[in-house]
Amino acid sequence: MRDFTASGAHARAARTVIPGAHTYAKGEDQYPEGMAPVIARGEGCRVWDIDGNEYVEFGSGLRSNVLGHGFEPVLARVRAALADGVNFVRPHYRELEAATRLAELIPGAEMVKFGLNGSDATTAALRLARAYTGRDMVAICRDHPFFSTDDWFIGTTAMSAGIPEAAKRLSVQFPYNDLPGLAAVFEEYPGQVAAVILEPETVTPPAPGFFAGLRELCDRHGALLVLDEMITGFRWHERGAQYLYSIEPDLSTFGKALANGFPLSALVGRAEVMRLGGFAQDADRVFLLSQTAGAQPWALAAMMAVIDTFERDQVAARLMEAGAQLRAGIEEVVADAGLSGYFQLRGRDCNLVYTARDADGQPSQEFRTLVLQELLERGVLAPSFVVSAAHDPAAVKQAVAAVAELMPVYRRALDDGIGTVLRGRPVRPANRARGLSARGYPRVVAGRERTWPSRPPGRACTRSTGGACTSITRSRRSAGGIR
Ligand SMILES: Cc1ncc(COP(=O)(O)O)c(C=O)c1O
Repeated sequence: MRDFTASGAHARAARTVIPGAHTYAKGEDQYPEGMAPVIARGEGCRVWDIDGNEYVEFGSGLRSNVLGHGFEPVLARVRAALADGVNFVRPHYRELEAATRLAELIPGAEMVKFGLNGSDATTAALRLARAYTGRDMVAICRDHPFFSTDDWFIGTTAMSAGIPEAAKRLSVQFPYNDLPGLAAVFEEYPGQVAAVILEPETVTPPAPGFFAGLRELCDRHGALLVLDEMITGFRWHERGAQYLYSIEPDLSTFGKALANGFPLSALVGRAEVMRLGGFAQDADRVFLLSQTAGAQPWALAAMMAVIDTFERDQVAARLMEAGAQLRAGIEEVVADAGLSGYFQLRGRDCNLVYTARDADGQPSQEFRTLVLQELLERGVLAPSFVVSAAHDPAAVKQAVAAVAELMPVYRRALDDGIGTVLRGRPVRPANRARGLSARGYPRVVAGRERTWPSRPPGRACTRSTGGACTSITRSRRSAGGIR
């Protein structure tokens, strides 16, 4: 068995000084108990933890490290930029160069404004839409897992403590691929919706005609269409999913892979709207992405290197290819084990996630935990199977072999009960209402015997906060985790 002693000690110390891991989706509660590796370094698609364990890593940096860790062409440009200094009293010349480059690349980008995080960009998009339309409400796609750390989105999640009810009431939700569903929102709140925000695609592909219908509905009801390309940008294509699917957003947002893990985001869109954030127009001004550490020359240098690499090396095609090989290999070993109904890959090849199902065929956090546990033991760190361009055939082979070895353990869990093979408490969704010690979810000790009921006692909604069911019903629904 792998040794996680140093990672465990680190987690205990971190708990006393950091409330949650920096990013909840990276939290120790997202990993099997006592098996949450703390990372020391990475190279390509591999990382090493502070106990010295090596892993093939998937979904790195919440999908931001699209070219792999330590990708030298990006690092070289960043180093060169750093040597010229950081953060001046006036803009650096590279800001115009980078904005022009992005505007040439992204179909819907007439103007560009840079930020640090994705949430900066999505929140700025909605502020702009509210100012442009003079309306307060925003319609958010309910089937997409994450849009922002700000109130307008977090207020719609289970983890909405601290967010005023007044703010929550301004966000309404609509289903993906369901034009009548969105039309119903417009009808319920006539003349009140400033913007519709969604990702172009997550695990479900867009239905034929969906984007044209979306555009038409937004136009008819006077709302702006905001496309969140945080994940699809520089993964589906360097020109965005809007290019692949011929979508015509008013505004769109980029981040994550934009600078291969360096903090950089961008809000882009129609000049008529974006101009409200400028100073050259006699109109009420929108405070739009104005940050102490914004538009740093080194982050912009990283972005330029990412764009060069995508264009030169056909990175988007390579991601699809690596993902397709991984999918084919995994699906084959799962089918050989007769478990295709229980362990399933979903999503586009460049962005694969998995669902682990229990004996009833229901998405299960316990079975997800078992998958994580067995893969970690075999040197595969896989909260998802999202590849980077650094995932070479050896990495794909190692991951497929690990899944093949997982299969008999999975079978045993189905036949004899998950408690016979799972060593600790199950993982839980990152954006949930309550902490790990919530009633009805006992802490579990290591061992082979079953240590908690296969249907946890809290399943039937043990607690209610602001009308929201907080416990297992919700956690089973989102058994894939977030981000
Ligand atoms: C689709 C999407 N939009 C926005 C965000 C927010 O980005 P950030 O965490 O950089 O603020 C995320 C983060 O996971 C995301 O997945």
